[in-house]
Amino acid sequence: MTDARHHTPQVVAHRGASEAAPEHTLAAYARAIEEGADALECDVRLTADGHLVCVHDRRVNRTSNGRGAVSALELAELAALDFGSWKGRDEAEESPDWDPETTSVLTLERLLELLVDTNASGRRLELAVETKHPTRWAGQVEERLIHLLERFGLTGKTGVAEDGEGTGDPFRTAPSPVRVMSFSARSLHRVQALAPLLPTVHLTQFASPRHREGRLPPGVRIAGPSIRLVRNHPAYVARMQEAGHPVHVWTVNNPADVDLCVRLGVDAVITNRPRAVLQQLGR
Ligand code: G3P
Ligand code: CA
Repeated sequence: MTDARHHTPQVVAHRGASEAAPEHTLAAYARAIEEGADALECDVRLTADGHLVCVHDRRVNRTSNGRGAVSALELAELAALDFGSWKGRDEAEESPDWDPETTSVLTLERLLELLVDTNASGRRLELAVETKHPTRWAGQVEERLIHLLERFGLTGKTGVAEDGEGTGDPFRTAPSPVRVMSFSARSLHRVQALAPLLPTVHLTQFASPRHREGRLPPGVRIAGPSIRLVRNHPAYVARMQEAGHPVHVWTVNNPADVDLCVRLGVDAVITNRPRAVLQQLGR
């Protein structure tokens, strides 16, 4: 049972509510919002014609009726594919008929629109964007990402200050609801250089000695360990937090792992099952 005295972590919908709906589709993100998730997680990749789309794998084979690498396909080609019908195919229950409107390829731009629209109603929904294979693109993923976030006013700067008090800061700053995650420290450094106010998360699957000492790459604010790392090295969480780094754990799907994260006081759990985790947390 969850002990109510402990800190309640933020609940982040991994690829949307991806247990219930096809991952990385509008259907999965809309469902996560409806279920009450605090934040959404998505992976981004560049298409052949330079658009950022939300797809996890290098190829579209697993999650669509098409074939080939995302990087070799143009957005129009991806838009012709069905990213919904695979879901439920191998499961006992019947696959629902997904609405093609909400299960076509999702651009990051469309997801940002959803984020902004949701927050316009007074809700504080956050978004964790993961850069996939950024080294292949020599900075293009991060440049496109920051360009897009700037267009939506989501880099943490909100405009020219009007107070005239000569603070030397030409911008008002407000915390962005967006953070950028990566397994690549180089990718995070590029993001920091382009948008210094955006929080960054260093993802890691295994505990390096550096991580176990509570050290992250320079400038990175948040630690993003796998649940396996946390199970094997529970002291990691307190070590990071003592060093001033919040801890966001992935992918936390079973109740025992949720309880462990609560006991350890982690700051966010990234899960395919936002509704079940929120219920377990008594929310
Ligand atoms: O949230 C981090 C997690 O998504 C990293 O693993 O493979 O699901 O992108 P993956
Ligand atoms: Ca991811």
